[in-house]
Amino acid sequence: MADKLIIFDTTLRDGEQSPGASMTRDEKLRIARQLERLRVDVIEAGFAASSNGDFEAVKAIAGAIKDATICSLSRANDRDIARAAEALAGANSSRIHTFIATSALHMEKKLRMTPDQVFEQAKLAVRFARNLVSDVEFSPEDGYRSDPDFLCRVIEAVIAEGATTINVPDTVGYAIPELYGNFIKNLRERVPNSDKAIWSVHCHNDLGMAVANSLAGVKLGGARQIECTINGLGERAGNCSLEEVVMALKTRKDYFGLELGIDASQIVAASRMVSQTTGFVVQPNKAVVGANAFAHASGIHQDGVLKARDTYEIMRAEDVGWSANKIVLGKLSGRNAFKQRLLELGVQMESEADINTAFAKFKELADRKSEIFDEDILALVSEEAVTHEHEQYGFVSLSQHSETGERPHAAIVFTVDGKEIKGESDGNGPVDASLKAIEAHVKSGAEMVLYSVNAISGSTESQGEVTVRLQNSGRVVNGVGADPDIVVASAKAYLSALNKLHSKADRVAAQG
Ligand code: KIV
Ligand code: ZN
Repeated sequence: MADKLIIFDTTLRDGEQSPGASMTRDEKLRIARQLERLRVDVIEAGFAASSNGDFEAVKAIAGAIKDATICSLSRANDRDIARAAEALAGANSSRIHTFIATSALHMEKKLRMTPDQVFEQAKLAVRFARNLVSDVEFSPEDGYRSDPDFLCRVIEAVIAEGATTINVPDTVGYAIPELYGNFIKNLRERVPNSDKAIWSVHCHNDLGMAVANSLAGVKLGGARQIECTINGLGERAGNCSLEEVVMALKTRKDYFGLELGIDASQIVAASRMVSQTTGFVVQPNKAVVGANAFAHASGIHQDGVLKARDTYEIMRAEDVGWSANKIVLGKLSGRNAFKQRLLELGVQMESEADINTAFAKFKELADRKSEIFDEDILALVSEEAVTHEHEQYGFVSLSQHSETGERPHAAIVFTVDGKEIKGESDGNGPVDASLKAIEAHVKSGAEMVLYSVNAISGSTESQGEVTVRLQNSGRVVNGVGADPDIVVASAKAYLSALNKLHSKADRVAAQG
């Protein structure tokens, strides 16, 4: 039997650290459920000590998820570790992941600690964590840029204290595949008790090599855990992308020879959910989950694929969960058909009342759009989940007028804490006018740093999915809105971003 490789998903922790990607407790819970369907081995649900919101999210996920190990990050101090253990108390299987920086640069400039102090703190942290849970992961932050002699000393000591996983982060994405693989191999050979722990890779994508580095860490270094995120979400250029690394390991099993527990047919649904929740759009040419990943445009390719699929395809679209844009439901579909489709899409609603509300929205949409695709249902359900969280601002209605040669005008009705507000404004275009009409009343003063529109299911009949990224006083948030009318979708996205701007609690940065 081949070796097992552990897939450790950190979308909800390292992915969420990406500016604008912060998620609410309920959003995280929904994604965690999808990660469970995807059958990841470990879900890093958050950094419990960083904020009350994160604590509650880790706690909720620990209580709801049965099949995966639930992990919380914590700095190497007793308070963080105790808070992580408290949040994880309800989990079937839990892990504390504690970290401290070990590179000369980080120790001196960031921590202002000597190597001996870091060594002691790492040991004490793992000892304390092991008194609370039996599964403890230790990460020497900026490990790849650390002095190997010092790293060996720290790792040997934390394994002796009971660390069960040793993760070697390339925190700043500086590694090169062969060098990173050999770095891990060397550590494993030199640390006398290295066989008492599972070795793990954690790569950032600053040079576009996170997936390649992770694979080299496995193949050359002998690591048996990969830390990754859906869509490669994460700070700066992101983390190792789960879908790419998993499909590389599966498609080239002949080379890697490793067993994975992952159900790849859930990959596209996970990708859609993370993208819709965070507003981080997936580029069309992204491997595995991009809209073009399995589209053959050139005549030669199309001809080849029709004659024999494997002429140009190394994976099957359906194996990763692409179902050819199915028309699933329409205006005449009943509540049972809708409920059944939700189940097939893996969407779990809390109550029958929630299903009724989502069904009413579905009917509204079906009146305006004859063909309803899976993507439409997922967008509708994400929006519903957000509305459900009793947000400060809500969309009610919008009318706008634009004509060649005239300045566009918009009139909008929206709610502020349940009270209806009417706003009007001109603008450069109908979207600009609508957002100015909202801003005239809200006066958030936020700067818009990104505005993007995406067609959910391809054609002009599709719903538009709009992402708005706002920045204010150092905070960055993304809002997402979907509607067949892109001006309405834009207003919804703007209101959703304002809600996040108002509710986002300050948190401690994991690497700050
Ligand atoms: O990149 C990194 O070093 C991290 C650690 C906290 C594991 O995310
Ligand atoms: Zn990281």
